Amino acid sequence: MEKKFKRHLVTAALPYANGGVHIGHLAGVYVPADIYVRYLRLKGEEVIYICGSDEHGVPITIKAREQGCSPQDIVDKYHKLIKDSFSEFGISFDIYSRTSSKIHAQTASEFFRRLYDEKVFIEKESEQFFDTEANCFLADRYIVGTCPKCGNEGAYGDQCEKCGSTLSPNELINPHSKLSGSQPVKKLTKHWYLPLDKYENWLKEWILEGHKEWKTNVYGQCKSWLDGGLQPRAVSRDLDWGVPVPVEGAEGKVLYVWFDAPIGYISNTKELLPDDWEKWWKSPDTKMVHFIGKDNIVFHCIVFPTMLKAYGDGFILPENVPANEFLNLEGDKISTSRNWAVWLHEYLEDFPGQQDVLRYVLCANAPETKDNDFTWKDFQTRNNSELVAIYGNFVNRAVVLTHKYFGGKVPAVTELRDEDRAVLEQIPQIKEALENSLNSFKFREALKDAMELARLGNKYLTETEPWKLAKSDMARVATILNVSLQICANLSIAFTPFLPFSSAKLQKMLNAEGLSWSAFGGASLLESGHQLNPAELLFAKIEDSAIEAQIEKLHRAKEENARKAAAESEAAGTGSEVVPQKAECTFDEFEKMDIRTATVLEAVRVPKTDKLLQLTIDTGIDRRTIVSGIAQYYTPEQMVGRQICILANLAPRKIRGIESKGMILMASEQGGKMRFITPEEIVGNGATIG
Ligand code: 2FM
Ligand code: ZN
Repeated sequence: MEKKFKRHLVTAALPYANGGVHIGHLAGVYVPADIYVRYLRLKGEEVIYICGSDEHGVPITIKAREQGCSPQDIVDKYHKLIKDSFSEFGISFDIYSRTSSKIHAQTASEFFRRLYDEKVFIEKESEQFFDTEANCFLADRYIVGTCPKCGNEGAYGDQCEKCGSTLSPNELINPHSKLSGSQPVKKLTKHWYLPLDKYENWLKEWILEGHKEWKTNVYGQCKSWLDGGLQPRAVSRDLDWGVPVPVEGAEGKVLYVWFDAPIGYISNTKELLPDDWEKWWKSPDTKMVHFIGKDNIVFHCIVFPTMLKAYGDGFILPENVPANEFLNLEGDKISTSRNWAVWLHEYLEDFPGQQDVLRYVLCANAPETKDNDFTWKDFQTRNNSELVAIYGNFVNRAVVLTHKYFGGKVPAVTELRDEDRAVLEQIPQIKEALENSLNSFKFREALKDAMELARLGNKYLTETEPWKLAKSDMARVATILNVSLQICANLSIAFTPFLPFSSAKLQKMLNAEGLSWSAFGGASLLESGHQLNPAELLFAKIEDSAIEAQIEKLHRAKEENARKAAAESEAAGTGSEVVPQKAECTFDEFEKMDIRTATVLEAVRVPKTDKLLQLTIDTGIDRRTIVSGIAQYYTPEQMVGRQICILANLAPRKIRGIESKGMILMASEQGGKMRFITPEEIVGNGATIG
């Protein structure tokens, strides 16, 4: 039996206040969380939705240096931008605060102090990188170097953004300081560590045994962390921006951003409900759910729960952590530094009043189980062929015809026929399916369910053709329009969590504002004689020119990046050397090569080798195995689902006992990383290249 909770505490990852909000943020975290919260509120559940800006950490101090201002200036600027963007998109937080607030510093400080007093932490001196020119220790992202896994020369001390590997500064090849560019030295410094290893058995029991219902991607990541064995993690840093470590002898040290940020959920709740916050955080009747992106899983499933458990005092743990995968943009990873993103504030300038369209597309295409791609073409199609052609068209026809034939008053049912009853009976069934999907965090599925209701209504009107019957059988027209308007009213409820602006507009049109979730499913939400307001279009067609303008904008960003990269490598004198041209070949020789597109279906490392991956690929002609020497650059996970180009008719070869049929085409610079050749857009497998 599933446990029944009295109230819901929903959190959404605190975004770093060093940039704006883009579609990846919205699709991964804030739209799904908002849908969930709006659904719970509509059902009359007691719920709070907590978020705020994450204003500490090294990236913010780096940005401040780059821009020649203080970290506080940076967070002030972006906190406002982020807060406004969320509010414009109807992300309905109960509070959106910030971790530079006083109450947060107090809460985080007190949290650390208690764990310190209870002797939870390990205190340890270790050698850390120190910049002798800038005279300071170099935390995380202040050290850059070459990634040992993929060869990226710009990898950070905590992570390589190219291949996604988590790193420690010691692993970097040729580490240097981001501050002075000099080679850092090692120097002893003291830090406090959270002994995750001591909590490993408890975490295994709690997650691996107790939360098998968590999403596969979340459970899988936790399992791999836990199976790999946990290590103590430092929770302090040598840095001058953050919450000071509240103990003697810790001058110049602050709490690690990933220690203080999740405590932000608590301090923001305190700020919202100063007298009542404990009811939300310390009662077993509260169901806590963290919405996050996949890069935050370890912190929300392992580190923060360990902190809460170690603190004790009745703090609850999350019941679920529905993390999403990543959204790409037009086939490429979204990136703030490369300006490869659709920024919310820019979208609103280009598509004013069309927030719901973006909410719709991002939910319909949400990266729930795997990384997904946002394309402007898909955005246009979903708007024009789904929102406009199905949902909007149906509502418009129902309301306009009611005005035309009945002066805008809901006509009474005269007699229900089988086809009317069949349609009405489906509404509660759709409601049930939708609820099941929402309860299990399947928001794409839930949106499909809601759209199913619109399809049903549209089909019903198209088949019953009341405009034709108006000449001969007004009684039948009355029934059809009554049924259609009941569907409209149901639609306005079903879509409220997903498309709040359009639902409000529809309810205004129906003169039925504030319909509750309990009314959903019914066949008489609007009484006969009820007066409607004038019809308005719910959605507008998006023209090709608007889409082309967006694609053009992205091309400009790409060109700008290429220019910057070329200028940087020239300045650094690292322009790559080019291999001389090979001996001439004839056209006939070239023609012999069968080069085509293919997709990787499976990828595994070839045992006992560092370089080889065994790939199963779909070539459009067959499924086959290719063994490729790319394991230094790509993990098996990064390969699956990727479209590549292959030389298909290369004579088969046995590599480590495995027959390899063909070769993957890669671009390689001398001494640099190998990169795939991929078509500009995903095409079918087996497309020939030449
Ligand atoms: O990944 C991020 O953007 C982090 N700022 C998320 C923090 S979530 C929480 F712990 F505050
Ligand atoms: Zn890397």
